[in-house]
Amino acid sequence: MSKAGKVELFTADGSSRGFYSSLNRLNELTGKEWVYWSKSVINKQYPPNMQHRLRSQHGGQKPPDLCADLIKVFTKEGALVLDPLAGVGGTLLGAALCRRNAVGIELDSRYIEIYEEVCRLEELNAQRFICGNSRQVLPQLAADGVVFDFILTDVPYWRMDKAEKSKGRYKKAGEVSKENRKSRLSPFEQVSYQSKAEWLSDLKGVFSKAVPLLKTDGYLAVFIGDMYNQGRYHFLSADLACMLEDIGLTLKANIVWYDVSKSLHVYGYQYQYIPSMIHQNILVLRKEGA
Ligand SMILES: C[S@@+](CC[C@H](N)C(=O)[O-])C[C@H]1O[C@@H](n2cnc3c(N)ncnc32)[C@H](O)[C@@H]1O
Repeated sequence: MSKAGKVELFTADGSSRGFYSSLNRLNELTGKEWVYWSKSVINKQYPPNMQHRLRSQHGGQKPPDLCADLIKVFTKEGALVLDPLAGVGGTLLGAALCRRNAVGIELDSRYIEIYEEVCRLEELNAQRFICGNSRQVLPQLAADGVVFDFILTDVPYWRMDKAEKSKGRYKKAGEVSKENRKSRLSPFEQVSYQSKAEWLSDLKGVFSKAVPLLKTDGYLAVFIGDMYNQGRYHFLSADLACMLEDIGLTLKANIVWYDVSKSLHVYGYQYQYIPSMIHQNILVLRKEGA
C-alpha cells in the first residue's frame, strides 16, 4: 500500500514496518521506527553474539547490534562510517550488519587481529581497519579526500592518576578498602595514569582531526560512561560534550543506554549511597551547516 510520497515496508516475516517517506533525508526508517528510535533511553537487550567471548578480550567492546541500530538511525544504506577509536570493531561489525561501509582506526594491532578472526568465523567481509594513531591517520585520510556520513565511536576509559585514585578507595560491604582496582578496559594510548584534563586533551587531539572528515549536517555519536570514584560522581559525558561543542559540533542528545547485562554492586551499603553504574551515555552531536 502507498500514501502520497510514502510506501509501506515489511519485515521478512511479513509484518508491517510502517510507512517510509520519500522526504526522509536522514535514514531508511519508517515513521513508526523513527518514533521508536527517538526515545532517549535504549533498554533493548543485546544478548552476547558475534564471537562475544573472543571480542571480550578487549573489555570495552560494544554490541555490534547496538552499533547497527545507531548506524541505521543516522545513515542510509551504503553510507560510510568512521570509528577512530575502534577497539575490536563493534562499529565495523555493526556497519556490516546493516549494509553500510566503515573505516576503523586502532592503535593496538592485537585488537585488529581479533576483529579479523571474528569476521572469518562469522563469514563477513572485513571492513577497512587501519592500525595506527588516529591523530596521524586521520589527516592522511583527509588528504585523500575521504568524507564520512557518520562517526560512531567509543572513548577510552579514563585511567585517573595515582594521586586522585588513592583518595578514592571504595569497598563492597564488609570488605576492607582496596587501593587500586584493576580494569580490563583499554586505556588511552597505553597511558597508565592521567588527570581528567589530560584525558580530555588527548580526546580533543583525536576528535579535532576526525570532525573535518565528517560531512556537513552529519552526526557523530559517542559512547561514554560516567564514573563514580574518589567519593564522587564524575560527569564525564558532560565534560566530553563541552569539549566536542568547543570544536564546533552542536549537542543534540544524550541517549542513555541501559545495559541490562550489568550486575548490581553493593559498594557503600550501610555507609553511604554509591550508585551501581548500569548505564552508558551515547552523546549525539551534529556538524551544522553554515
Ligand atoms: C573503548 S575502546 C573501543 C571499543 C570498541 N567500541 C569495540 O567495540 O571494540 C577505545 C579504543 O581506542 C584505542 N585508542 C586510544 N587512543 C587511540 C588513538 N589515538 N588512535 C587510535 N586508537 C586509539 C584504544 O586502544 C581502545 O582499543
